Amino acid sequence: MTASISFRGVTKTFPVRGSGGARQRTEFTALDRVDLDVAAGEFVALVGPSGCGKSTLLDLLGGLDTPTAGEILLNAKPVTGPGPDRSTVFQQYALLPWRTAQGNVEFGLESIGLPRRQRAARAREYLGLVGLAGFEERYPHELSGGMKQRVAIARSLAYDPDVLLMDEPFAALDAQTRESLQDELLRIWRRTGKTVLFITHGIEEAVYLGGRVAVLTSRPGRVKEVVPIDLGNRAEDQDLRSSPEFARHRHEIWSLLRDEVSRAQQLEKEAAPV
Ligand SMILES: Nc1ncnc2c1ncn2[C@@H]1O[C@H](COP(=O)(O)OP(=O)(O)OP(=O)(O)O)[C@@H](O)[C@H]1O
Ligand SMILES: [Mg+2]
Repeated sequence: MTASISFRGVTKTFPVRGSGGARQRTEFTALDRVDLDVAAGEFVALVGPSGCGKSTLLDLLGGLDTPTAGEILLNAKPVTGPGPDRSTVFQQYALLPWRTAQGNVEFGLESIGLPRRQRAARAREYLGLVGLAGFEERYPHELSGGMKQRVAIARSLAYDPDVLLMDEPFAALDAQTRESLQDELLRIWRRTGKTVLFITHGIEEAVYLGGRVAVLTSRPGRVKEVVPIDLGNRAEDQDLRSSPEFARHRHEIWSLLRDEVSRAQQLEKEAAPV
């Protein structure tokens, strides 16, 4: 199964303490009327300056928090809370240290009430899918960072969610591991046809993975531009990252982000007390 996502005028404000002391409450706008449509089965990468509200947007879509205004539709139905149709992979692996790789993947399946033998079979299947066959009985401390992140991805996929939400899942990994996980993720995405929303700080990662790249503005976050990525035929065994199309897209996103970062610095300068 797969699903479309639609953010319609999504605004999120948080109550915060004002500079006048603990009693003075003010509103902080993290997201400001975000509009974004993601088609079923699409892979969209989300980039934006630090603190612009990317994780907040994913939390709202995951149903962990509710928008202050606007709405989020999943297959044309409003999101009202968390559900097994969406699954998140975070930057930190968030594995249970007292459970094996197999046990960690099975954990999520217990909550959806799958019988024990089916759970075990499904967990093995997904560990195989992420290249961890033979590592089922290892505990997290016996796995490398890249392997732990594979377990986290297997755990998310094993639920068979319609939508996979990824919040900088490869940020803590070395370059080689990151590139091989990127390829694996693309392979899994093509095979399963899931809708993927992928947050990253890496411009190259966004261009490599995304069918489109959504660039958010600095605080408060809005969608600045959505850039369609066309890298030609991916099936060929070539170094896509060194192609002229790749360089052109990378530069385009880089320029959009640079403008946002300098705008944010300007705003900060103006807000600073003299
Ligand atoms: N619960 C909260 N209460 C108050 N402010 C919050 C809360 N959660 C997030 N914020 C603020 O909202 C803004 C957006 O935060 P968010 O974590 O979504 O940013 P981000 O784009 O994911 O940043 P990064 O790239 O650094 O991960 C930040 O300024 C943050 O301080
Ligand atoms: Mg974040």
